[in-house]
Amino acid sequence: MEYTHANHRHWTTKLDSDGILWLCLDRADKNVNSLSREVLIELEDLLDAISQKLPLGVILYSGKPGGFIAGADVAEFASIVDASEVRKHIEWVHAVFSRLERLPIPTVSMIHGFCLGGGLELALACRCRIAVDIPETQLGTPEVKLNIHPGYGGTVRLIRLIGPLAALEMMLSGRSINAQRALRIGLVDYVVPERQKARAAQAAILHPPSRKKTNIFHSLFQKRFLRFLLSRYLRRMVARRADRNHYSAPYALLDLWERFGDNPFVMYREEARSVADLVTGSSARNLVRVFLLQERMRSLGRQWKYTPRSVHVIGGGTMGADIASWCVLQGLRVTIQDVEQERLATAVKRASELFRKKLKEPRRVIEALDRFVPDMRGDGAGRADVVIEAIFENAAAKRKLYQEVEPKMRQDALLATNTSSIPLEELAETLQHPERFVGLHFFNPVSQMPLVEVVRGQRADAARFNDAISFVSAIRRLPLPVVSAPGFLINRILTPYLLEAVRLEQEGIPADTIDRAAREFGMPMGPLLLADTVGLDICLSVGHILAGHFNFEVPKRLEDLVAMGRLGKKSGRGFYNHRKQNAIFARKKRSPQPDEDLTDRLILSLLNEAVACRREGIVSDGDLLDAGAVFGIGFAPFRGGPLHYIRTRGVDAIRARLKTLHARYGERFTPDPGWPDFPGF
Ligand code: NAI
Repeated sequence: MEYTHANHRHWTTKLDSDGILWLCLDRADKNVNSLSREVLIELEDLLDAISQKLPLGVILYSGKPGGFIAGADVAEFASIVDASEVRKHIEWVHAVFSRLERLPIPTVSMIHGFCLGGGLELALACRCRIAVDIPETQLGTPEVKLNIHPGYGGTVRLIRLIGPLAALEMMLSGRSINAQRALRIGLVDYVVPERQKARAAQAAILHPPSRKKTNIFHSLFQKRFLRFLLSRYLRRMVARRADRNHYSAPYALLDLWERFGDNPFVMYREEARSVADLVTGSSARNLVRVFLLQERMRSLGRQWKYTPRSVHVIGGGTMGADIASWCVLQGLRVTIQDVEQERLATAVKRASELFRKKLKEPRRVIEALDRFVPDMRGDGAGRADVVIEAIFENAAAKRKLYQEVEPKMRQDALLATNTSSIPLEELAETLQHPERFVGLHFFNPVSQMPLVEVVRGQRADAARFNDAISFVSAIRRLPLPVVSAPGFLINRILTPYLLEAVRLEQEGIPADTIDRAAREFGMPMGPLLLADTVGLDICLSVGHILAGHFNFEVPKRLEDLVAMGRLGKKSGRGFYNHRKQNAIFARKKRSPQPDEDLTDRLILSLLNEAVACRREGIVSDGDLLDAGAVFGIGFAPFRGGPLHYIRTRGVDAIRARLKTLHARYGERFTPDPGWPDFPGF
């Protein structure tokens, strides 16, 4: 009997000689499997057919080499605005998954690579889960990152399977776990090498693992009082990371479990209601918007086929060493050059620390170190696909270096600079081939900052510029194409915001109050702690460069602190005192609550500059600007980016506020001439 219909596009089936049905999901229109409505409708059809003619068992697996299932189809969710419609959809998915769960035959999920969100919830509806033991296998419920919690029955099934402590930890953190850990906590039944996965899945059908006995410790949480105690404790832990006003999903999940955790029937119903409310709330909608923008940035580089294999980095200081080790982590071969031997020794030490942290297995660490080659003479420049210059910020020194390096380089190689402020035209003056010269502006620390500004100078060739964008994608960073202009996008919008914070502190407002205002708005870190982290000398130098171009003043307080040697974290003292990695806050008395003017002075400085950048065409569209601000400076992601925030709060309302601030605090709040064009952004 045929199980699939002629019009099915995403699932294929095969009945083997033992009578086992192999059910393969391979989304027709995507490189990654996700659970779209169409995929689920087909699954429902298949379950109809399976119920009519039961095979011996069902093995569900993915036809994509990269992974199992990434989750629900986020783009589809973004299009639904009505909570009751979302709820109806979820209840229908519950019904489909519960049909799978209730089949009177063994069912197995064979998981290789990622198995996330709705994908894991589907696997949970099978009786047995087998995970392939490869580093790419990751199981998790990342919904909380979009201010949602699992909605396809996961809150019930995950808690039932692995107990409330482990399940809530996974759902509240959104962190995924590897195959071995999944085995230890009972999320999967077997972990097998790649080559044995099919045999193991067949064996699990022919000799199903015995059903787990009820765990007495887990069953204690049938008592509401104990759920109350654990939820209260977890709520306190969550409050350290997530402000309830901005990220309500973890709190909604705890409420759900605390109230209904002893009754699966009610919990499914309430799970649907809770997720429907969250999905249609502004925070989740904006986070989904940011997620889709991230996908867009990722796909930018995939449009062109450029496959670099080797990189030569010149300058083994803070940035060069980190860029080099990040490229090695992504599988590239890297040579790294510096004039000082000691710098290279430090670079190797830092790289091996990063490799150990990220790769863990000693064999993989050694392989990575083999690809990281110190190269005092700079021989690697002649072999590399991409040469990245990261020497100190001095135009004459950079130009001199290019004169030495360019003749060595291959014709087809790219030459990139990591300059954070020098216009590319100035650096390209003496180049023989300015058409292949681009800016690749990485941020510090490279392994944690996902964004790279890809800077296009006037003389750059379009195809070579596209290669640079592809290179950034190839090393798993997010490329933001920008034109060459002072400060590019990120430093340009960040600087007025940081300097306004310094001015406020100069006026006598405690640093902690200023930083609190930004955090309450949703920034991950306050501007003064950020300035301390970046280094006040670096902030001052960027401030001077931009002040020269845009005619504003750098606050005297910043000059004074740098003159006193208070450079921030690296010197132990800046706006805060620092011990090791932590800032010590004045605790004598709680600093005053920030007022509305304070928050607006900070945030509107940034918004006004964002409007200026869009007017000047620093980025090609408003969405890219928003994505850049979120991934480059951590602009409150649940607000969807600066321009989106302006739209939400109201263009006229913000312009009016700018005019008020202009009257109270001075010229720097003059609304940019780009405001009248805003609707077109
Ligand atoms: P750094 O001072 O830590 O390192 C510069 C390295 O270049 C030193 O090790 C020095 O010995 C080496 N060097 C100097 N001249 C050389 C030459 N002719 N040949 C080979 N090596 C040479 O500087 P950092 O902070 O790494 O900055 C490098 C570049 O990255 C600058 O253009 C800076 O504007 C940019 N940048 C810096 C960021 C930061 O947070 N530090 C962030 C983003 C960009």
